[in-house]
Amino acid sequence: MSDINLIPLTAYKEFQKEEMLNRSRALLEDLLRRRTVRDFSDKKVPKEIINNCLAAANSAPSGANKQPWHFVVVSNPRIKKKIRVAAEEEEREFYSLRAPQEWLDALAPLGTDSNKPFLETAPYLIVIFSKSLEILLNGTKQKTYYASESTGIATGFLISAIHNAGLVSLTHTPSPMKFLNNILGRPANEKPFLVLVVGYPAENAMVPDIVKKGLEEVTTYL
Ligand SMILES: Cc1cc2nc3c(=O)[nH]c(=O)nc-3n(C[C@H](O)[C@H](O)[C@H](O)COP(=O)(O)O)c2cc1C
Repeated sequence: MSDINLIPLTAYKEFQKEEMLNRSRALLEDLLRRRTVRDFSDKKVPKEIINNCLAAANSAPSGANKQPWHFVVVSNPRIKKKIRVAAEEEEREFYSLRAPQEWLDALAPLGTDSNKPFLETAPYLIVIFSKSLEILLNGTKQKTYYASESTGIATGFLISAIHNAGLVSLTHTPSPMKFLNNILGRPANEKPFLVLVVGYPAENAMVPDIVKKGLEEVTTYL
């Protein structure tokens, strides 16, 4: 006999068709307003809002429910500066030496370069780590499953929660990112996944005028 504990699905809510349509449209419209912002204000953000967004991310589904992620929330200006200095060093090498021309061409419409002032200006940097191996408190090693997929889904929840709260974010991936383990004192089993820069947009912030593929291009109904 199985010894799993099952509980009733009390949290599920069924809606009438009309309400389902309205809800699906409302979320679509809201998510369509989201943009990646690279020009941040230094306006303070209450910590409780960040905490709520992280709790939303932490509720995400994960392979075998292992939650193979760790979030480091950085607001300390000294640590933000360290991250900026290290990230700009990697990015200078990336833009001038390591990046293949094809990648540089793909980035050109976004106008990004090796300068990352937002790493100091924005009130919060949420550094997300992914763990393919968990080290338990007693030192035992435990495998996790689909660590990257799970962490990506949790990050999607986080980006949506931040947007929903009325803040903006930038998904930042300095390459390589190993320096984040040293600066933030994270163990070797945690792999930096990305840095989410979070805050309010600067007054008159601008975003690249880009076009998204249409739904028909990315979807097949069979
Ligand atoms: C995994 C990932 C990595 C990204 N890395 C960077 C980055 O290092 N620097 C940056 O300026 N934008 C980065 N972006 C943001 C993308 O350029 C941006 O999402 C894309 O241009 C679409 O714009 P939108 O988010 O405003 O819709 C990244 C996005 C993702 C999902």
